[in-house]
Amino acid sequence: VVPARPSLGRRTRSLTLLLGAVLALGAVPAAAADEPVAPATTYDDYQPGREWRDTDGDLIQAHGGQVVAATDDAGEPIWYWYGEDRTHGTTNTPGVHVYSSTDLYSWTDEGLALQTMTSRDQFTADPYFAELYGDYTDAERDVVWRDLSTTTPADVAKPILERPKVIHNEANDTWVMWVHTDGPSSPDSTSSYGRAWSGVAVADSPTGPFRWIDSYRLNGVPSDSVPWCGTSAAYDPAGGMARDMNLFVDTDGTAYIIYSSEENRTMYISKLDADYTYLSAAPEDAVQGEDFVRILPCSQREAPAMFHANGQYYLITSGATGWSPNPARYATADSVLGTWTDRGNPATGDGAATTFGSQSTSVIPLDPENNRFIYMGDRWTPGASGSTDLGRSPYIWLPLTFGEGGSLQLNNATTWRHEDLAPQSSWQVDVDLDWSWVGDDLPATVDVTSDGVTESQPVTWEFTEGTVGTVPVTGTLADGRTFTREVLRVPHDLVYVADSGAATVGTGDAARIREIAAAAGTPVRNDVPDQPLTAGATWGWTSAGAGVKSDVGDDLYETVRYAANNRDITYTFRDLEPGEYEVHAGFWDPWAHTRTTELLVNGEVRGTLDITDARSSVSYPATVAEGGELTFTSRRTTGESTMISFVMVSRVGAEPEPEPQPQPGREVDVVVSARAQCWGDGRAVVAVHTANRDGHPVDVRATTPFGEKKWTGVADGTAVYQGFESGVSSIAAGTVSVAAYAYYDGAGHHQVRSVPYSAVNC
Ligand code: DGJ
Repeated sequence: VVPARPSLGRRTRSLTLLLGAVLALGAVPAAAADEPVAPATTYDDYQPGREWRDTDGDLIQAHGGQVVAATDDAGEPIWYWYGEDRTHGTTNTPGVHVYSSTDLYSWTDEGLALQTMTSRDQFTADPYFAELYGDYTDAERDVVWRDLSTTTPADVAKPILERPKVIHNEANDTWVMWVHTDGPSSPDSTSSYGRAWSGVAVADSPTGPFRWIDSYRLNGVPSDSVPWCGTSAAYDPAGGMARDMNLFVDTDGTAYIIYSSEENRTMYISKLDADYTYLSAAPEDAVQGEDFVRILPCSQREAPAMFHANGQYYLITSGATGWSPNPARYATADSVLGTWTDRGNPATGDGAATTFGSQSTSVIPLDPENNRFIYMGDRWTPGASGSTDLGRSPYIWLPLTFGEGGSLQLNNATTWRHEDLAPQSSWQVDVDLDWSWVGDDLPATVDVTSDGVTESQPVTWEFTEGTVGTVPVTGTLADGRTFTREVLRVPHDLVYVADSGAATVGTGDAARIREIAAAAGTPVRNDVPDQPLTAGATWGWTSAGAGVKSDVGDDLYETVRYAANNRDITYTFRDLEPGEYEVHAGFWDPWAHTRTTELLVNGEVRGTLDITDARSSVSYPATVAEGGELTFTSRRTTGESTMISFVMVSRVGAEPEPEPQPQPGREVDVVVSARAQCWGDGRAVVAVHTANRDGHPVDVRATTPFGEKKWTGVADGTAVYQGFESGVSSIAAGTVSVAAYAYYDGAGHHQVRSVPYSAVNC
């Protein structure tokens, strides 16, 4: 059981009076005049991973830390770097170390900003603690000892002090430090991470001494409000867990604490009070959305680092894999307590999967007016249990740059200086590219808005992965800037779209493709996403014992059918009109195995492919002979059994059906009505009904503002009906045009009727 938050917390005493004496205790003795002074250890560049020493030549101990911009006593800019002192390894930390610098390359040791304790006697016997906590009551000292003592009985897990962060409170000119303070949640606990608390300390000077106030569980949500990511351990009645954490002060002076909660499943951001030393409201009174937000649910993110750039808020996080590096991700929001959108890994290329061998800790605002920011990460080297190797964990500082729409890029570098990080402007491309026809050119120019000025610029396009289905497309502007869009690529004149592996519903992409094909007047023949080739079926797959991954999302590639025992997977399409076709197939391996496959059309090998976790697609011409059958086969050659994401069949070069030529004077007798209606949950639809009374079969074409539909050979005495979805909930009054054609007595006959419909608001 985690002890409840002690009621004595939230101290707000002035520190000023006692600090003079304590600062003197922490001062570094000056070298005597006749002693030789060793040259200072300095640097003039960053070499991520290099041993980094302070000006005295000692290894810098500021892990899991943060760099804060400040002003020195002479009013000059100065930087302070705070972090974990890991001299003794994972536990027994001496406290939070602070260094100062005027150039961010070379750092002067400013000592321990917050000191931990080794003995309770220090409250009286050690002048530092006696001064700092001299006016604390016994109960208050209990809290300090509980949170800052590094000693525990031999059989009790050691306490932990991690990820210290400091912010300056301009309103009362104090420096406030929050840390992840942890340790056994009960005397017999064996976990150093059982408490999951955040602790707070305050100082009048950026270098300390910071005086401990208290530590707390933070905001959480009620037990019945979320499914806890399927992990009962994520909910703790003792309150909102808080482990890896960071702080952020917004432009309006409001401060926030960002923390990994719910057993590291979900991130929270909580507002702090005006002093920055407690939450804006106690957890029992806090209002979600006003005092805190629960973000990136169930994403298991740690090591949050927030900053503000390009008019939006950024949050870089790591995955939760202990001391091992993993892929970073970043999210953005329009306001701190707003909606955060995950935008993927900011690192790309070699090393992206381990964030270049690092875990985020903070972002340094090098020159925020020009969007120049530095990523601070740790490359943890914990060594064997009990080793002090963690204290030699290198620091990884890398330049951050921004792409189109404020997309974030973390760049790897072996040696770099601030001059290598150019000012970053914000820019955005405006192009309507939700979907496009395969074979049609993409736009030759796009509108680019850079720093508020919009101009049309030529663009070249490259498909980053496959070419059919939703694929990433990279646009390159004349000046070399690149941007990407996810574009749904749809073959013209589709006949079938088989969403291989889809269970019942099919992916969002497959549904969109069906809609696009129907709106173009060439609706696909299949109305289920995937099916086996049973007797009498016009299409389907064959592959005995095949399995599926059928988690249906939007991406056509992400449902797959995989073969068993190295068998082929074949799709057969029947009842096709003889002629020329194209077969398109897509591949993507969710398990990233090695699979090489031969691809056959009508039994003939057309190519080979390595199926990987990158989306790839093929398109092959195919001739359908009398009998109307087309087959597509994926046949394993090496590696794991083959798999398919989708197969599409499209018609090539089919003669457009000649439109019957109207013959003036001979009308076709059809009765047309049109009505605007509401369907389902508020979709406005124009419904068109055409009855044939001509005494002959007729062809009908209905044209509305929301699409067109053709019927051929509508028998006499029957009617055709179609609802045209507007895609919105409210439409104005309008007109439908229905053309009817008939051919008899050696001549064509024609009739066009315009029918009004009224406005509807669903
Ligand atoms: C990952 C965290 O980000 C670190 O601060 C530390 O707590 C390690 N886990 C411990 O395994």
